[in-house]
Amino acid sequence: MEEVKVVLITGGSSGIGAATARLLAAHGMKVYAASRRGTLQTPTPDVIPLSMDVNDSEATRLAVAHILQAEGRLDAVVVNAGIGIYGPIEGTLEEEARNQFETNYFGAIKTIQACLPAFRSQGHGRIITVCSVMSVLQLPFQGFYSSVKAALLSLSQSLSMELKGSGIQCSAILPGDVATGFTGARKFTAASKDPASPYKEQMERNLKKIEHDELGGMSPEVIGRAILKQLQRRHMAVRVIPRLDYKLVGMLVRFLPAKTVLSALSRLYN
Ligand SMILES: NC(=O)c1ccc[n+]([C@@H]2O[C@H](COP(=O)([O-])OP(=O)(O)OC[C@H]3O[C@@H](n4cnc5c(N)ncnc54)[C@H](OP(=O)(O)O)[C@@H]3O)[C@@H](O)[C@H]2O)c1
Repeated sequence: MEEVKVVLITGGSSGIGAATARLLAAHGMKVYAASRRGTLQTPTPDVIPLSMDVNDSEATRLAVAHILQAEGRLDAVVVNAGIGIYGPIEGTLEEEARNQFETNYFGAIKTIQACLPAFRSQGHGRIITVCSVMSVLQLPFQGFYSSVKAALLSLSQSLSMELKGSGIQCSAILPGDVATGFTGARKFTAASKDPASPYKEQMERNLKKIEHDELGGMSPEVIGRAILKQLQRRHMAVRVIPRLDYKLVGMLVRFLPAKTVLSALSRLYN
């Protein structure tokens, strides 16, 4: 098994990406933490900040080229950069929905495609995609976020089959609520701010619950440990839901009828 020595993490300036970068570096890996800000939450030896917008193909390609030039290798990429938009599907502008997909989906594709040639010529590489439990369950007023996370999970699983026999492995991590900058960075659609919205009361209840759950959620280190574990395994798991309670939720969603699941989620989140 090829030891993982050099890792690129997108969205490394905050939250899950920053915690994962620190943890991997503490386990002897050299980590390039990329973000638009290009800064680190806490300066850490062996974590190198990179300025890189995943929406910019050229910047993404150059960042990977820079790592290869400096290190002579790239063993893994953690595809983590993401934002969340909030609002009712009715009235969401096409541009708002496209922005959600631009960063979380097309940004992920740009990152993966920038890394694949190096992984292929090395004969090894690991692609860990940070999805969400919302890849397998949907919540109201986060319809586009749920959709983009489901799309990312599909992408990761299709890719894992395409890459069979290449020495390149894929793993999708599906976190539940994590206390990070994600809540504060959430983008509200114009329709969500409409004082005459027919969804006004539903959204008020919903937002209170999701913000409460996120801010009281698990620490990003829990997700960092799940990622580290995959990087240390000979064969990565195709899909990982960290923490037992969320694993159980994932199993319930899989085996219960969709109608039952949606009615339970609707009671909790509407
Ligand atoms: N928090 C949760 O409850 C939760 C649950 C499940 C999944 N997730 C997923 O976990 C991932 C990380 O989120 P987080 O919770 O750690 O939130 P966060 O603290 O807001 O971190 C998001 C990171 O993404 C970066 N980013 C955003 N847009 C970018 C772009 N265009 N190019 C490059 N970097 C970009 C941000 O840095 P800059 O602003 O400097 O670019 C930041 O480093 C996301 O994909 C999110 O969907 C989060």
